[in-house]
Amino acid sequence: MEAHRESSWDPWDWQGYPAAQQPSWPDGSALDDAVKELMQRPGIVLVRDVDRLRAALARAARGRAFVLQAGDCAESFHDHSAASIRAKLKVILQMAVVLTYSSGVSVVKIGRIAGQFAKPRSSPIEVVDGREVPAFRGHIVHDDVATLEARRPDPQRLLRAYDQSRATVSVLRALTQGGFADLSGAHRWNLDFVASSPEGRRYQAIADGVDRALRFMAGCGIDLEREAVLHQVTVWTAHEALRLPYEAALTRRDPVSQRFYDLGAHMVWVGERTRQLDGAHVRFASGIANPVGVKVSAQVEADELLELCATLDPERTPGRLVLISRMGHEAIRDQLGPLVEAVRDGGYPVVWLCDPMHGNTFLSEAGLKTRRFEDIMDEIAGFFEVHRRLGTHAGGIHLELTGEDVTECLGGSQEVLESELCRAYDTICDPRLNARQSLDLAFRVAELLIA
Ligand code: PEP
Ligand code: CO
Repeated sequence: MEAHRESSWDPWDWQGYPAAQQPSWPDGSALDDAVKELMQRPGIVLVRDVDRLRAALARAARGRAFVLQAGDCAESFHDHSAASIRAKLKVILQMAVVLTYSSGVSVVKIGRIAGQFAKPRSSPIEVVDGREVPAFRGHIVHDDVATLEARRPDPQRLLRAYDQSRATVSVLRALTQGGFADLSGAHRWNLDFVASSPEGRRYQAIADGVDRALRFMAGCGIDLEREAVLHQVTVWTAHEALRLPYEAALTRRDPVSQRFYDLGAHMVWVGERTRQLDGAHVRFASGIANPVGVKVSAQVEADELLELCATLDPERTPGRLVLISRMGHEAIRDQLGPLVEAVRDGGYPVVWLCDPMHGNTFLSEAGLKTRRFEDIMDEIAGFFEVHRRLGTHAGGIHLELTGEDVTECLGGSQEVLESELCRAYDTICDPRLNARQSLDLAFRVAELLIA
């Protein structure tokens, strides 16, 4: 059955299915030209690495690893410095060290990075200063400035998104495979503005512990030089597969296995607004060999979720399907359990991740989108409670964060107040945790992991 489904699938046949969240591209032939150009370009990731991520996620599906998926809500064409990629990477590495050091669990690190340029919207229009403009759909479509002119979709942006993604992957590779990610340098991952804070000091204590552990192992006669895992890390890339012309143009058939791979990222996910069973996005995701995520809100019924599992993971392959719940802290304790049970009883070896961001967003009095740190933590705690009760594995977390000192989410030990939100509200889409809030969260998740 699988062979039949794959042989009758092709990277462009989603065009025969209804696609939600499509921008109206002004000129059809300009889009075709950009797609043709993209099809000539090399893939951004390697087939072999996509397979390695699937294997890593399979370990998480068996309860042997924890996934940390994190990055911007939307990457920006205006902010693409090596420094900002490095800051994001530092936070992710620090969080992973905190989780592993505290719990002994290995952490699979996946960025929302190197392709996270497309945004689904609840409403096709936005009202800014009393004027209606098309809603912002990400820099892969148009600019974020709120004018009609800036919001006109431009297909050339597909190519720019590709170029920026490739550049980001090469910066990531240089940082993760070079000396920067060496565990003996874990002290250096503290960002300047974090180092003197309580979380920063708590992190330093862990980095000291890592040093002691390394010295102990060396003293025991272990040749640390030869242990590659101590000197390099892998950070996989992922984004929402929303702009299907971009994804399909980067999808290639692997000559060895004959399977199709979306070489735009190691993993892609289907968002809450585009996961219709008979829709174009699910059709596209069903045929690629990459690990695929699906966002799951409290609105999903168990039957519908099982059909999604059957469509996206008919062979029940561990590491293939990642279900990312995003229910809101008030709903998760009641709504998640029946879905986890149904998927488990259906025999689908999925990885469950908790996205505690997208169900907890609200508008501040000043009209800024924000989230409370305590709500985010409460949703994660609820996620762990549900899995503990059912004896299933709380597979990981999916977060929006940045390495910058922003004030976009409320609370945290540094207590960002509502009146302070406008001080450094830099996101071009949803509010992100800043570096201190992220580290704080990692310490609290570590406690949940060992509880
Ligand atoms: C997102 O992850 O940025 C997003 C839009 O999420 P969701 O599809 O869950 O709303
Ligand atoms: Co978001």
